Amino acid sequence: MATKIKSVWYCTSCGNESPKWMGRCPACGEWNTMVEEPKAPKNASGGGVAARQRAYIDASDARPQRLREIDLSSDNRFSIGIEELDRVLGGGMVAGSMILIGGEPGIGKSTLSLQIPLCCKDLRTLYVSGEESLKQIKLRAERLGGSDDDCFILSETLLENILTQAREIKPALLIVDSIQTIYSEALDSSAGSVSQVRECASALLRYAKETGVPVILIGHITKDGTLAGPKILEHIVDVVLQFEGDTKGSYRILRSIKNRFGSTDELAVFEMTGSGLREVRNPSEILIPMHQDDLSGIAIAAMMDGTRPFLIEIQALVSTAAYGTPQRSATGFDGRRLNMLLAVLEKRAGFKLAAKDVFLNIAGGLRVSDPACDLAIVASILSSNFDLYISPKVCFAAEVGLSGEIRPVSQVERRIAEAEKLGFEEIYISSFNKESSFARRKKTVDGGITVTPVSDIAALCRRLFQ
Ligand code: TYD
Ligand code: MG
Repeated sequence: MATKIKSVWYCTSCGNESPKWMGRCPACGEWNTMVEEPKAPKNASGGGVAARQRAYIDASDARPQRLREIDLSSDNRFSIGIEELDRVLGGGMVAGSMILIGGEPGIGKSTLSLQIPLCCKDLRTLYVSGEESLKQIKLRAERLGGSDDDCFILSETLLENILTQAREIKPALLIVDSIQTIYSEALDSSAGSVSQVRECASALLRYAKETGVPVILIGHITKDGTLAGPKILEHIVDVVLQFEGDTKGSYRILRSIKNRFGSTDELAVFEMTGSGLREVRNPSEILIPMHQDDLSGIAIAAMMDGTRPFLIEIQALVSTAAYGTPQRSATGFDGRRLNMLLAVLEKRAGFKLAAKDVFLNIAGGLRVSDPACDLAIVASILSSNFDLYISPKVCFAAEVGLSGEIRPVSQVERRIAEAEKLGFEEIYISSFNKESSFARRKKTVDGGITVTPVSDIAALCRRLFQ
């Protein structure tokens, strides 16, 4: 008689196990997240919450200690040789930590993870790929232009083999590309399923905590932009980094979403070149003008992403609508917010834009969400509408409110300082920004940037275009 394969239902959001299908996961309350998978045998380690948590605790340490007695010297960080990546990690990699890097296909996850062993030459690394053959990896490494005698490459998808090899080679850093291609013999389900991802991640976590070797996992991302596999993966790992950007453009942003060892406000900018990813130390270079001075419809915003200020070019095109319904299209910016800004211009400042097509583009293929870009967007739309250019030495940092008022933004001093560093001559900010934050700058006589406070759109127009 054929044995019946037992199956259970797993929640893809929290990894909760249930003997039958349910519309709503009783553990996390998410709807429609249960998937059927073969049941994991009892000896599989990733099983329950207790097993996962045991992985964090070294048995000999499992007694309470006074906070001041806990030795910090074991929390040793080391640099990976890619300065920007070190910064996003909070100042280097921590021994025994597990880092998850997620991103869309083709964004450069494999490139970055191969560049790490090539950059840290004095570290013995093991790069495991479940996606590419040894030859493919070698070809890629040649394109990246690096060679390292202490970088071991393994093309393998079986978890048990990976761990055996890792114990043999004793690397100082283990990289697994990608967690969705790795499977464990202990489970019947296929690679990439909830139980496999959970089991493999827990086993690798145990390896990291036992040996003190940091592990970098590469993770796939789903259509809606979240990391594929169970949400539990994000709970298990210490650091989650997300690779973002337009795969057609060349700029990529590596953002920290979770970091047990540092701030999540950090981000790093990379440029994809013919020979791999290049660090962009000064993100404002994305702005480098590739046009003549006197083009209309261009304004520069002094935005912040996390804790980093950078200046970005905003382009607008306003033209008479050929059809009854005008088109509004925004690339790299929220379309609804563009509509709101247009409504403010129409109602509060009296510009007749209702019969005009408006196109907005953020240069460099970036996506912005900082409200401080509002003023630059409004300025670029007006510039295109009047066909009058704005000097490329002028930038903007303020939010536009629903009644047409120009509102203050946070960290204005840092934005001003960044603009000044880049040689801008004038910055428009809200007149409601605390005087103290820019008063010092007003006094700079020559060479310094002029800070122009404006209170409403009409005042902005008068200053810019008259
Ligand atoms: P890859 O790292 O394979 O992406 P992922 O692992 O996230 O799917 O990178 C894929 C893209 O990067 C590919 O479209 C080609 C491009 N690329 C370069 O432009 N230059 C290079 O040196 C390399 C290695 C890749
Ligand atoms: Mg890849």
